Amino acid sequence: MAEHEGLEFGKSDFVLLDEVNMEHFMENLKLRFEKGRIYTFIGEVVVSVNPYREMNVYGKEAIAAYRGRELYENPPHLYAVADAAYKAMKRRAKDTCIVISGESGAGKTEASKYIMQYIAAITNPSQREEVESVKNVLLKSNCVLEAFGNAKTNRNDNSSRFGKYMDINFSFSGDPTGGHINNYLLEKSRVVHQQAGERNFHSFYQLLGGGPQSLLESFHLQGDPALYTYTKEGAGCSTATSDLSSHRAVRTALKVIGFSENEIESIYKVLAAILLLGNVGFRTDEESVLVEGEGEAVDHIAQLTSTPAEGVAKGLLFRTVATGGGDVIEKAHTEQEACFGRDAFAKALYERLFGWIIGRINTVIEVKGYNPMLHGKNTVIGVLDIYGFEIFDNNSFEQFCINYCNEKLQQLFIELILGQEQEEYQREGVAWLHIEYFNNQIIVDLVEQAHKGIISILDEACLTGGRVTDTVCLGSMSTRLAQHPHYTDRQLTPNDKTMDFQKHFRIRHYAGDVTYSVEGFLDKNKDLLFQDFKRLMFNSTNPVLTEMWPDGGLSIMEVTKRPMTAASLFKNSIVALVENLACKEPYYVRCVKPNEMKSPLLLDEARCRHQVAYLGLLENVRVRRAGFAYRQAYNRFLQRYKMTCEYTWPNHLMATDREAVEAIVTGHGFQDDVAYGNTKLFVRSPRSLFCLEQERAALIPILVLFLQKVWRGALARMRCRRLRAIYAIMGCYRRHKLKTHFLEVERRLVNARNMADYGRGVEWPHPPAALAQFHDITVTLHRRWWARQVVKNIPPSEMTEVRAKVAALRSLSGARKTWGVGRPWERDYLANARDCPLTCSSFLRVSKELRTKDQFGLILFSGLCRMVNWFNNTTDRAVLITDRHVYKLEPKKQFRILKITPLDQLTGLSLTSGADQTVALHTSSQDDILLYLQSGELWPGQDRAGELVGNLVDYFARVKQVPFPVKVCSTVQFHKRGKQKSVTVETRAGQTIAQFKKSKQGFVLLLPAD
Ligand SMILES: Nc1ncnc2c1ncn2[C@@H]1O[C@H](COP(=O)(O)OP(=O)(O)OP(=O)(O)O)[C@@H](O)[C@H]1O
Ligand SMILES: [Mg+2]
Repeated sequence: MAEHEGLEFGKSDFVLLDEVNMEHFMENLKLRFEKGRIYTFIGEVVVSVNPYREMNVYGKEAIAAYRGRELYENPPHLYAVADAAYKAMKRRAKDTCIVISGESGAGKTEASKYIMQYIAAITNPSQREEVESVKNVLLKSNCVLEAFGNAKTNRNDNSSRFGKYMDINFSFSGDPTGGHINNYLLEKSRVVHQQAGERNFHSFYQLLGGGPQSLLESFHLQGDPALYTYTKEGAGCSTATSDLSSHRAVRTALKVIGFSENEIESIYKVLAAILLLGNVGFRTDEESVLVEGEGEAVDHIAQLTSTPAEGVAKGLLFRTVATGGGDVIEKAHTEQEACFGRDAFAKALYERLFGWIIGRINTVIEVKGYNPMLHGKNTVIGVLDIYGFEIFDNNSFEQFCINYCNEKLQQLFIELILGQEQEEYQREGVAWLHIEYFNNQIIVDLVEQAHKGIISILDEACLTGGRVTDTVCLGSMSTRLAQHPHYTDRQLTPNDKTMDFQKHFRIRHYAGDVTYSVEGFLDKNKDLLFQDFKRLMFNSTNPVLTEMWPDGGLSIMEVTKRPMTAASLFKNSIVALVENLACKEPYYVRCVKPNEMKSPLLLDEARCRHQVAYLGLLENVRVRRAGFAYRQAYNRFLQRYKMTCEYTWPNHLMATDREAVEAIVTGHGFQDDVAYGNTKLFVRSPRSLFCLEQERAALIPILVLFLQKVWRGALARMRCRRLRAIYAIMGCYRRHKLKTHFLEVERRLVNARNMADYGRGVEWPHPPAALAQFHDITVTLHRRWWARQVVKNIPPSEMTEVRAKVAALRSLSGARKTWGVGRPWERDYLANARDCPLTCSSFLRVSKELRTKDQFGLILFSGLCRMVNWFNNTTDRAVLITDRHVYKLEPKKQFRILKITPLDQLTGLSLTSGADQTVALHTSSQDDILLYLQSGELWPGQDRAGELVGNLVDYFARVKQVPFPVKVCSTVQFHKRGKQKSVTVETRAGQTIAQFKKSKQGFVLLLPAD
């Protein structure tokens, strides 16, 4: 129900007619034809009228307009049906087929080509190379098939002389993956004989008119069809397309499809051989039959078929017969037999060639490497373009077969569109007014019924040996079919002068009466070909020919079953075809031929009326009008549309699916457009369904998001659980590692208290990373504990010394290598009898006096030293440092006091980093005391500077609680009477004692070299 056409173009769907009768139907058909609207719908069926002119309704733009649209959204078109079939296939994974029917010249083949082009244009958007090549072969195959299977007839300049059913296979994603072509009964009698005004198959004229001169010469041909018996009848006919350009197009197509050069050449050689064969004549020379002329033609045929010339000549003149006794004898042909054999050979050559070409195309396009598990369901769209119903002046066996085939297809149409539909309404209990239509089953039976049908009678006649002729067979039909309402002949109706006695019989076909001439029926049905030709071709040195004739490999002696007759073979193939179509979802294109003159202007009312009647189009409209466009089982309907209604999503709670479907239908407000069957919902207009489809399409992305959300959540939860498990495992492992570390530490140090070194020498186990800090702390703790143990054992008398040593250690902080830590620090060396045995007593006296006088409590240090005097000379002196003063003493004069400095004036000290004993005690008065400490008798050479540092620093820190900075450097800086001086240290050979020498900056301390 297209909406984009104004009413001036008539009704675009016959269903919309005000009244359904022939007058209105024809009026609408005519109006539309005159206005250039050649397509009209009957629901989903497209009625097409051959325009006999170029129409501007095809091509890219039109394809884009129909692509993915619903049937009624656009004006009627082949593209709409093609799209509907494609959509059904893709959406519902249904196998579909498009059946194109109509009489010869009605436009079936053209329609099939437009449909194929449409399918090719809308698929493979990603331009995948393998899909493109499949499409290319499918499209190109048309050109080849038309060249070899079409011919000019009196009805149609490009009439298909074979039936074609093409399956196109689609992948799950809807791209063509391959295909298969079935061909039905090529009209091979055309090879040897054509009716007046008709031509042989195009291929012959294309070769003669289009083949290059050199090629024709090599084939011993001349480019004029009038020179050859088989083509001379049609030589004068003009055709719309030029044979030259067609020849080129076919050659290119063959190459594109994948035929090799050798194969292409072989094809043309066979054509040439047939043409030459037609010109072979026979004459009888005293009993024996000979080939006319010099036998040149035979040689050429032999050369073209790559067989020995004697073989060809023998095949034409004799036949080999196996006798019952196992012998083989050669039987010479009569002249008539030789002619018959030659023609049969020519027909068979062409038929095999055609079959082989189709087989070869099939191997190229067959679906390869398809795995349904991997690639999803493989679906099919079949396109059937079969010869239309034919009534000629002289109708023979071929017309009989062709018309039978059309009866079968009409039967299928009736069954599917008219019969099954009405039966379904009844079955489903939907109110329905039965519509009468003519059921042609009775005619089908007349032809094909076992034992009774015409084919059976023909077969019987062929099987009966002896002299059963066509007329005897006609007699038998006459007696056996006398009662049949659709059969008649002259014997049954002697007054009917339109038929001849013993020649004609008439069948009242659904499309009209056809009078057949029985002449040649039996021969054509037997389809006899002498075995010798088969063997000859099989043994050809050209492998292409051998391939065409596999049955020639049988030995002469082999007894073969009688081959099936041509009519039975054809019947079987058509029965298989109909079965194949019946299991697919059918789409119909019903073609109407407007006139016999191929005129674009004329719509011959009587002719069209006739076609409309026999195609059953009116009944189709009636059924359609009363019927429903769409039906679906309740559960399937629910499954597809339940998301469009809140009561049914995600699952309904109603008693039955039917109620749920009602809820959806009422929810969308098209309750008046449906009927509820027992198991199915029937929807009258596609529009309602389209609403649902649209809503569904809008909801699908949301559902997809929802599913994605749920699935993502599930994934995240799974991941989370896994992570938790990982952490749990990690935790356990860590705990295990910590535990083992602790246990190991414990094991190693458990006895530390009893060890001599309190575990100081124990090697700690390497800690796990997590315990690094903890490890450092524990090691420190252990060190402290260890230190505590060590300190605890020091007697209180030694504590002062230890403290001093610790203070020295800290102050020197590694800057001075030797600082006397290893020896006992005795502090008061001047009072020490071992160190100063000669002077200690006099010092003790002085010290005692000073203690009373200056009230000091503690001697921090005393010892001998060398100092610089007023005159900058180095003199031996002694130094006594108490907790109150620093005394400079003269050792040689009973320790007479030379200078007293209050301890409070000391601000720090400096010493060198070397081993020398220079110490500068800094004073706040900037008159520093520069000493070079001397050792006495006790361990000569011992370091006393470190001891002096330790004692002073410890005292200042602990007792006075003020810092006492110590500076360790290579050059000692000090102040003398307010002036800054420095002391550098030098060792000098020959120097026996430490001596300060005045220098520019202050002093150089000269030391013995030792
Ligand atoms: N849609 C169309 N547009 C233009 N011309 C067309 C169209 N359909 C058919 N014709 C013309 O009609 C001629 C016959 O059409 P076509 O060969 O398709 O008939 P057919 O039904 O296949 O006949 P047959 O049964 O003899 O094979 C075409 O060669 C073409 O000239
Ligand atoms: Mg055709």
